[in-house]
Amino acid sequence: MERILMVAAEGLPFIKSGGLADVIGSLPNEFKARGYDVRVVMPLYKKIAINWHDKFTYLRTYTVNINYEETQVNLFYYIYHDVTYYFIEHQGYFEREAMYGYDDDGERFAFFQKAVLEMLNQIDYFPEIMHCHDWHTGMIAAMCKENFNHDYRYRGIKHVYTIHNLAYQGNFGADMLESCLGLGNYVFDNGNVRFDGGISFMKAGIVYSDKITTVSPSYAQEIKTTQFGERMDAVLRFREADLCGVVNGIDTNMWNPETDSLITKNYTFKTYKKGKAENKKALQEKLGLNVDENVMMISLVSRLTWQKGIYLIIEQLFNICNQPIQLVILGSGEAGLEEKLREAEWGNRGKVCFYCGYNEALSHEIYAASDLFLMPSLFEPCGISQLISMRYGTLPLVRETGGLRDTVQPYNQYTQEGCGFSFANYNSNDMMHVLWEAIDLYYNNSAAWKGIVKNAMEKDVSWAQSAEFYLGIYRELCGE
Ligand code: ADP
Ligand code: GLC
Repeated sequence: MERILMVAAEGLPFIKSGGLADVIGSLPNEFKARGYDVRVVMPLYKKIAINWHDKFTYLRTYTVNINYEETQVNLFYYIYHDVTYYFIEHQGYFEREAMYGYDDDGERFAFFQKAVLEMLNQIDYFPEIMHCHDWHTGMIAAMCKENFNHDYRYRGIKHVYTIHNLAYQGNFGADMLESCLGLGNYVFDNGNVRFDGGISFMKAGIVYSDKITTVSPSYAQEIKTTQFGERMDAVLRFREADLCGVVNGIDTNMWNPETDSLITKNYTFKTYKKGKAENKKALQEKLGLNVDENVMMISLVSRLTWQKGIYLIIEQLFNICNQPIQLVILGSGEAGLEEKLREAEWGNRGKVCFYCGYNEALSHEIYAASDLFLMPSLFEPCGISQLISMRYGTLPLVRETGGLRDTVQPYNQYTQEGCGFSFANYNSNDMMHVLWEAIDLYYNNSAAWKGIVKNAMEKDVSWAQSAEFYLGIYRELCGE
């Protein structure tokens, strides 16, 4: 096995809305470093066009059939850190303000997937492994196996499908099956892609791929239950022999407090106290918080959605703000949540800062300046933020779910083990108890706190192990 093609809807350094982009921006480098021919393909969104287009090389133009019309695809490529990235351009479909959330998302990503499959023929590049990510790419294996099976070049491809978040499924009306995907109605009739009277890209990915992975072992178990299965649990149980969890890593070069050029003061574990104090003061000045290097800074960098457990924080805002701490929140999302956080800031000037929006550079400053990172998610397939936090010596306080359970070992006062704090039930009082303990430890037992920071900063959050695990899956599929 030599050739791996990753197919995804987003990836760094080109575009990011969440952890998927972190994964697509870092995992391929691991394969490249181990000598594999790894390539990535994604849509050419407006934001990518504005920032990168003049660096890209035009490759060719071809067509795919959408709504019974030949629709033009412009293919570009760019080599970044030795990995080849292909970009599928269609101005009408992708050069819009947002990446997702349009009424025609089904048609847009049907186009993308068809364009990817035809790309292989156009550039005569056939990978042994196609590794697809999330619902936007769920139909690739289905179309490949149903429509291209007569062609040995496509038939030889093995399909790996990674579920980053089962809550987003790409469910659409069945009418697009033939018009957009070119699939016969029999795949609806036999149930392969049918879901709720329509079709589901996510279900197709689960049914047709040779191997299904998700981003942590705990989430791989959880999604087989009705509680976390998002009504896909029966299909997942059906495929459980081919389902496994591989925990995410992060790009430890990009996320490195020792070299990060976006933070005020670089630091290592040996210098973390001084380093954090300087980063804290700079951030306090920047955000209009009271300048005090000794105050405990608690932060949250997140999409503001129901998944992330923000409600628990809002329920306890009064209690949290009564503590001798500062609270910094960076994120955007549900309007109701944003409103509550704005109110918290107004009522606690100098103590609470809510920065509404997406800001990559500011996120680095927050990870570096903070002491504690809140992540009380309702569910969390893996989570990237807690991994970054630990790398920066910012102790995560998490709910024991999915990847949070698998990556944050809670502090044990008897053995001094652990790299963060955790609570089990989705209940804000339970969260608050652990938060009180953490605040107490921070102010009254600095030796213990320092020990946890050491454990966190020394924890291996790189891709080293997981990249090998993926390669093992690829090799096994290829019969090696
Ligand atoms: P999810 O993918 O579910 O949003 P993850 O924890 O896997 O959650 O990944 C979130 C990623 O997005 C992290 O790299 C985090 O730093 C980043 N992020 C989230 N919200 C923001 C924001 N408002 N500004 C900058 N970065 C953000
Ligand atoms: C999803 C999940 C998150 C995970 C990320 C990358 O966005 O919500 O938990 O870390 O994908 O796999």
